[in-house]
Amino acid sequence: MSISFQEKERIFTLQTHNTTYQMQIDPLGYLCHLYYGPRTAGSLGHLYRPADFGFSPNPYASRYAPQHSLDTMPQEYTGCNTGDFRVSCLAVSGEDGACGAALRYVSHAILPGKYAVEGMPSAFAGDGEAETLTVTLADEVTGLEVELYYGVFAERDVITRAARLRNGGTAALTLDKAASLCLDFPFGDWDLIHFQGRHNMERQLTRTALTGGIQTVSSRRGASSHQHNPFVILARRDATEDYGDCCGLMLVYSGSHRTDVERDQTGGTRVVMGIQDELFRWTLAPGQSFQTPEVLLTFSHQGLGQLSRNYHRFLRENLCRSPWAKRRRPVLINNWEATYFNFDTEKIVSIARQASALGVELLVLDDGWFGSRNDENHGLGDWFVNEEKLPGGLDALISEVNGLGMQFGLWVEPEMVNEASDLYRAHPDWALTLPGRAPTMGRNQLVLDMGRADVIEYLYQRLSDLLSAHNIAYIKWDMNRSLTDIYSRALPPERQGEAAHRYVLGVYALLERLTARFPEVLLEGCAGGGGRFDAGMLAYCPQIWCSDDTDAVERLAIQYGTSFGYPVSAMGAHVSACPNHQTGRTVPLDTRAVVAMHGTFGYELDLNLLTEAEKAAVRRQIQRFHRYYELIQWGDYYRLSDFTQTSDYAAWQTVSPDRGEALVSIVIPHVRATTPLIHLCFRGLDEGGVYRVTEFAAFHSGDSGLAAQEEGKEYTGGALMYGGFVLPRLYGDCPSVQIHLEKVQ
Ligand code: DGJ
Repeated sequence: MSISFQEKERIFTLQTHNTTYQMQIDPLGYLCHLYYGPRTAGSLGHLYRPADFGFSPNPYASRYAPQHSLDTMPQEYTGCNTGDFRVSCLAVSGEDGACGAALRYVSHAILPGKYAVEGMPSAFAGDGEAETLTVTLADEVTGLEVELYYGVFAERDVITRAARLRNGGTAALTLDKAASLCLDFPFGDWDLIHFQGRHNMERQLTRTALTGGIQTVSSRRGASSHQHNPFVILARRDATEDYGDCCGLMLVYSGSHRTDVERDQTGGTRVVMGIQDELFRWTLAPGQSFQTPEVLLTFSHQGLGQLSRNYHRFLRENLCRSPWAKRRRPVLINNWEATYFNFDTEKIVSIARQASALGVELLVLDDGWFGSRNDENHGLGDWFVNEEKLPGGLDALISEVNGLGMQFGLWVEPEMVNEASDLYRAHPDWALTLPGRAPTMGRNQLVLDMGRADVIEYLYQRLSDLLSAHNIAYIKWDMNRSLTDIYSRALPPERQGEAAHRYVLGVYALLERLTARFPEVLLEGCAGGGGRFDAGMLAYCPQIWCSDDTDAVERLAIQYGTSFGYPVSAMGAHVSACPNHQTGRTVPLDTRAVVAMHGTFGYELDLNLLTEAEKAAVRRQIQRFHRYYELIQWGDYYRLSDFTQTSDYAAWQTVSPDRGEALVSIVIPHVRATTPLIHLCFRGLDEGGVYRVTEFAAFHSGDSGLAAQEEGKEYTGGALMYGGFVLPRLYGDCPSVQIHLEKVQ
């Protein structure tokens, strides 16, 4: 049993393989958080020692006990306006306008299996893999009931949390905030690690020491955003890649979100995470409920590397229901950077022909195949093939592509519409626009109101027709602007605060229906690159296009940051043309491949334009990728370099779960003369085992005999992990190396 309840002390204990989570019902019924950290046994009730902090108010029943204050008690889920001045989970008011709630224990249940989250994606468990604790709290005045869910995945070292808010009273309630969780760390010096960025430079790791006050990581863009990923880590100040305590919180949600991290007067640190409350308002009639999104928690006592590996494994095994989640994905060619809107059947077939000759398995036809879509200003919404560009329609093209032995994939952007489209002309009220105002534009397009049932039905029919009528193996689901002018013509004035969340629920409902009907279609998420790279979308899309920045050097930083929460198998990455279209930089073809291989791997350029030598290199790259596929995609991932400390080189490693083989990749973006040699401590090997270098593939302009010198050498795992490995000098522009090790003893 991973969940237990001690009646006497009224303590709940959740145990995973390496962690313990504990909470206690206090004498007045408030649910007090005690501990989340390395696995331990016994009561941790002593950790909450009530103490008087002046001006911290007291519940009426404790008015003679100044040390008892909600303002200083660590909590599992807060009420509001009743004595806790820290960031709260909730803002609820009744018909009289009184905003307030004090949540107290009512009941609990311990159940086998994993609870479900209504209307939104959430983690799932195999047989016997998880247990659920539900704790019901209630506010006796408003009648609000809060059901807290805890899913305990003992072997994965993951605890999931969510909440369901139910109006158990007799009058309507208004929610102005409804977070997914509160997690209080009563003690400790913590750094906040979060992943911020922008279009073309997503998920840059940022680590700051917490000081008194609140730090907020949030998106108001209607999508999880390029700017702030809904994933944070609290790391002890001394925590490193391999050492120390750190706790991750990852929101399974793709819309506007908010995480507040507060360092308070008691020295405690509180995290409140959930849906963005700005522009949010939800009315609950008596008996109605509001479901919050889920949060995936993991705690590592062995530093950030272990925390990442916990997430990688969990997202691969327990989040995405697609059969593709654990299946070998095809190496693809995408025509976007090769042609942009300027293509016809002949052009696409010529790219496919060359790609297939080199070993590529799937051709993806990107934006521009439908309606009047010859530029960014037209056609979105008209998901009918443009026969002027593609005579004979999709089938003619698909049969050519299939005839080359390749599968066919298609780009769509279902959530959007151009004013210059038949769809908009027929249904202008389907777009999100504010009454009486010219709409705010983004890429000269409007956003469909995905909260409307008729919009979802229309898109479901249109996309289903496409998928049933044609042999489409893959869909790239794009989304190229943020939400503004959020106003739904399908909702009455008093319910406009629901529109942004209903949009996300609509996206999920559509994805749910389509993936149920077409489970074999491989979905790749996308939002102008990685603008919606989150666990919510990953529940449907086994892979997401990581960034529109395809420059391999830039990708080192983007994929580095992304790797803290998300597995290699989720990161869409392609080799594109040089000079690179985003930066103008030229990186050697083989180094581009080394970087893209640590993603889902594909090409995005016109392979016809390569020299014969380059084509041969592409063929070798694809063969190498196939050779190491299992290791790269399903192995344990180790970051060997810290991009926040040095960008002189980037190094990472994957190790097979049985530690029988490993692949180390190193890229040197900028070679300097006579610098100290690069010294790396490999990780995750069997220290007593002996490893042979079976491949030393150096892509550089220096000594071409390096492979012959290095291959066949043998080292103990301990020598490589504790002594390390000294890389010979590499020369040229942006060289790289891949070292494959096999355990021979
Ligand atoms: C943004 C995506 O990230 C690109 O890969 C491409 O699909 C364009 N949209 C097409 O408009």
